[in-house]
Amino acid sequence: MSAPPTILVFDSGLGGLTVLREIVRARPDAHYVYVADDAFFPYGHHSEDQIIARVVPLIGELIGAHNPDLVVIACNTASTLVMSHLRSKYKVPFVGTVPAIKPACAKSKTKRVSVLGTKGTVKREYTKALIRDFAQGCEVTLVGSAELAALAEAALTGTEVSDQEISAELAPCFIGDNDGDAARTDTVVLACTHYPLLMNRLVRLAPWPVDWIDPAPAIARRVADLLEAPGGKADHAGAEMIFTSRRPHALSRALMPFFGGRVPA
Ligand code: DGL
Repeated sequence: MSAPPTILVFDSGLGGLTVLREIVRARPDAHYVYVADDAFFPYGHHSEDQIIARVVPLIGELIGAHNPDLVVIACNTASTLVMSHLRSKYKVPFVGTVPAIKPACAKSKTKRVSVLGTKGTVKREYTKALIRDFAQGCEVTLVGSAELAALAEAALTGTEVSDQEISAELAPCFIGDNDGDAARTDTVVLACTHYPLLMNRLVRLAPWPVDWIDPAPAIARRVADLLEAPGGKADHAGAEMIFTSRRPHALSRALMPFFGGRVPA
């Protein structure tokens, strides 16, 4: 029987936990190493050159230290830049996270879709190419949020975040009016892995109901496809949580649901 795989999940902070949660559901037998590059958070505020120079060698070090069978870059701001660099430099298989523009546009009935991401992600040539190739006749509005990733981290770690702060970041996604407008936005792509951490509040604060597209389940399916099928016995291998800042944290218990109930070491 083959040993459980080690899956390394990487993000600038805690947002990649929303992707990890789905991967753990698909592969409960795997060993997980979650790395939050909090020493460099938020990636959305850094230049493209800075992100490439930071992430490519860091992933090399992490591969050397943990010998993963697969690496998930659970960050749109990084994935829209670094995937080709990583694949050409390292042999391990990679799965990235990029804005789910194709499925969102395929689903939209009003043909009006918004993409909510970091300021970095919405500026990327990669994102613009996705719109050129997959808009399928939809009008796509790019909304770069300066604060929502940090607000999501704050909320997860127990800091009060007001409705007004969240609504201000959300408002530009909603084009049209609330009064029977048949052409108003009906679909919002969550193009930053931090945002599903706020899902309940996004739904409550939206001016009207929309479909929120979270790519995490599709990423988990891709991961499962790339790995060998699990052996006979799912034994819930371990889980590790690494912060690049090495700052002490008291989050292990709060993060258990994302790790399928395990307490990350
Ligand atoms: N979680 C990251 C993403 O998916 C970004 C947050 C940040 O700005 O660091 O884009």
